[in-house]
Amino acid sequence: MSMHEGLPMIKMLAKSPAGLEEILSNELLALGAANIELLNRAVAFEGNKKLLYAANYNCRTALRILVPIEHFSIESEMDLYTKIKAIRWEDYMTNSCTLSIDSTIAYSIFTHSQFVSQRVKDAIVDRFREKTGIRPSVDLENPDFRINIHMYKDEVDVSFDSSGASLHKRGYHVSNAEAPLSEVLAAGMILLSGWDGQSNFIDPMCGSGTLLIEAAMIAMNIPAGQHREEYGFMHWKDYDKDLWEDVQNEALEAQREFEHEIIGSDISNTNLRSAAANLKQAGLEKEIKLRVSPFQEVIPPAGGGVMISNPPYGERIQVEDIIQLYRDLGDALKKNFKGYKAWVISSDFRALKMIGLKPMKKYILFNGQLECRYAGFDLYEGSKRARYQVEEGLPPVDTDGGNA
Ligand SMILES: C[S@@+](CC[C@H](N)C(=O)[O-])C[C@H]1O[C@@H](n2cnc3c(N)ncnc32)[C@H](O)[C@@H]1O
Repeated sequence: MSMHEGLPMIKMLAKSPAGLEEILSNELLALGAANIELLNRAVAFEGNKKLLYAANYNCRTALRILVPIEHFSIESEMDLYTKIKAIRWEDYMTNSCTLSIDSTIAYSIFTHSQFVSQRVKDAIVDRFREKTGIRPSVDLENPDFRINIHMYKDEVDVSFDSSGASLHKRGYHVSNAEAPLSEVLAAGMILLSGWDGQSNFIDPMCGSGTLLIEAAMIAMNIPAGQHREEYGFMHWKDYDKDLWEDVQNEALEAQREFEHEIIGSDISNTNLRSAAANLKQAGLEKEIKLRVSPFQEVIPPAGGGVMISNPPYGERIQVEDIIQLYRDLGDALKKNFKGYKAWVISSDFRALKMIGLKPMKKYILFNGQLECRYAGFDLYEGSKRARYQVEEGLPPVDTDGGNA
């Protein structure tokens, strides 16, 4: 029997970006989670404390892992205060801890989540002051203890946030190019594509290199949190340092070699310098190749693989140029990427159509607040017959440089 099998089971909730719930549930299942339930932008699951640490360390598509501790309904503001004050906070934290409260509300008697946070803070602080004469203080930036309040109508869930800072903060992003993708979204895009490290990976508009780094981490089974130093659970009274070290060592043993190529390119030298700095911080500068090049001139390595990219959306670019950029992308895919699967994320749906290929698959994802389509195209190798399916309603595109 493993020394951790006697640990009690706890209920947990992993938060994810919209559209990545199923991917996250697969990650949790692989870590041994039980009673998994898909929710809206979250996955509920059960496991022991070791799984709590492992989920924080390994999950690529989780934003944070919450541990619910209380659920009750309320009738008034005073009711909220009283029920929060009745929780035995001293079992979990000391009066010298700093804390912060995140609240989300929907259809509630309250109209402002900040007000809810304020009342919850008052109740906790008053309890400590009455019991010990000393009150914990608030630190919104870097608190020891984050408390999460979720209020739906009159139902209140109180949870501890075991992650602390959001898990997209992997610790390798030291330099930003324009509009970098969130690390969690980038990992989710790669996992949605089905790429598992068994073929080449290429991002020909790589910017600061987020997709490349997440791809290398997936290919080599490097845990998402390898470069992150701190998690919320480390400040908890029941923090088990040995257990945490076990979790890290197990992940270290599961790492593997990668035998294909991961290549990033970009037209901007400045952005590539950012990518190089991030790669170095992630310790992946030997695994990933970077080149300055317009994507129009990129020839990917033979043998096939996956291309994933997030082209400019047009925030700072003229509409006509964006349309041309996506047309060029479609042409480059058809001409140079035979044998590859290509995935493109964009919030510009009209531009996306200009690629001129019928997607084999399409997902709705959000880049921050921006609703995006994430479309996958199969660029079949070879046959002289209908090589690509052309997007309906658009004129046929020359798929073979005129040779078909
Ligand atoms: C939205 S950003 C990509 C951000 C990247 N995914 C990240 O996480 O940092 C789009 C990138 O496309 C690059 N780009 C624009 N036109 C290009 C072209 N013709 N060839 C190659 N790269 C291009 C820009 O320089 C920019 O870095």
